[in-house]
Amino acid sequence: MTDASTRGPGTGRVAPEELRSHRWFGTDGLRSFSHRARTRQLGYLPEEHLGKPVVAVLNTWSDINPCHTHLRDRAQAVKRGVWQAGGFPLEFPVSTLSETFQKPTPMLYRNLLAMETEELLRSYPVDGAVLLGGCDKSTPALLMGAASVDLPTVFVPAGPMLPGHWRNEVLGSGTDMWKYWDERRAGTIGDCEMAELENGLARSPGHCMTMGTASTLTAAAEVLGVTLPGASSIPAVDSGHERMAAASGLRIVDLVMRQVTLSQILTPEAYEDAVATVLALGGSTNAVIHLIAMAGRSGVKLTLDDFDRIARTVPVLADLRPGGRYLMEDFHFAGGLPGFLGRLTNVLHLDRPTVAHDTLREQLDGAPVHNSAVIRERSDPLAGEGGVAVLRGNLCP
Ligand code: FES
Repeated sequence: MTDASTRGPGTGRVAPEELRSHRWFGTDGLRSFSHRARTRQLGYLPEEHLGKPVVAVLNTWSDINPCHTHLRDRAQAVKRGVWQAGGFPLEFPVSTLSETFQKPTPMLYRNLLAMETEELLRSYPVDGAVLLGGCDKSTPALLMGAASVDLPTVFVPAGPMLPGHWRNEVLGSGTDMWKYWDERRAGTIGDCEMAELENGLARSPGHCMTMGTASTLTAAAEVLGVTLPGASSIPAVDSGHERMAAASGLRIVDLVMRQVTLSQILTPEAYEDAVATVLALGGSTNAVIHLIAMAGRSGVKLTLDDFDRIARTVPVLADLRPGGRYLMEDFHFAGGLPGFLGRLTNVLHLDRPTVAHDTLREQLDGAPVHNSAVIRERSDPLAGEGGVAVLRGNLCP
């Protein structure tokens, strides 16, 4: 599903002198001379970059972020795709928001990364962007900043880590941390068991593999239409994840050449579909905070009332932890988001574009579900209504 040969919206192709980066490199003034001279200093020949789409690869990799450990390699795969498609990739390191390590909370820094993303894209000679992230607040932060600049953009979700394991039990990274800490407090397990659990809870690079905030927001990015189809559930260490990154690099060059900007993708209909999807996934309630903020950057009015209204129209169809039984790898092999969305088509806006296809309808056409225990039939939902109810008032007047 992540084949870069898929088509997408937009018609015609821009001439090299119509590229935004032409203002830096292609004019007859002193500044262009200086920019070309400094690109020689970087070691590039004129024929390697002049007249080519410049693609910023924004990378949230860091030694302190275990969810993004693999993104150094994935950035290389994205760049490989960009080169092969005739573009000129430039990697930009940006802030990392590590949910486990950053205090008092990475939420304090979401808007800082959004601002950094926006200002980098605006101030440098960039024609398009590929954004790499996935740990909780990274996804909304990167997309908020990019939405404000409105260049052609593809999001590469970091992908879930492998399932946790301990003594023949499958563990969810967050869910079971709390559970076994309580077991220790109750005295049912001791330090030996806790030491084993330390090794088994989080077994590989990648974001949390339950339908927590990270999986919810990367799924939202996919249904919004800013990732390649099926990208959000590919396990971080699966070789398919690297292929998806390379395909995203190929794809962004095409989007730049056809000037398919983010605002053509992030429409009011796309946000409505994102809300419906996260509710049907039984996703994190943090999606309410982040999707409203993301929509604001897109100039789309999205409110708490929209969540409440849409929740009444969608059933919960994904049996995923923490609310259900399965993990993201099960979801991926059950059909991933394309298969899941294929069971929600009655509430989705199918005629809107994505970065990969002219319409969401075309993108979902024939997407199979291989396991109806993980992705439930509409006739057999986990719950009849979406997972959020908006309450108002004061419990403690
Ligand atoms: Fe990064 Fe959970 S700690 S997604």
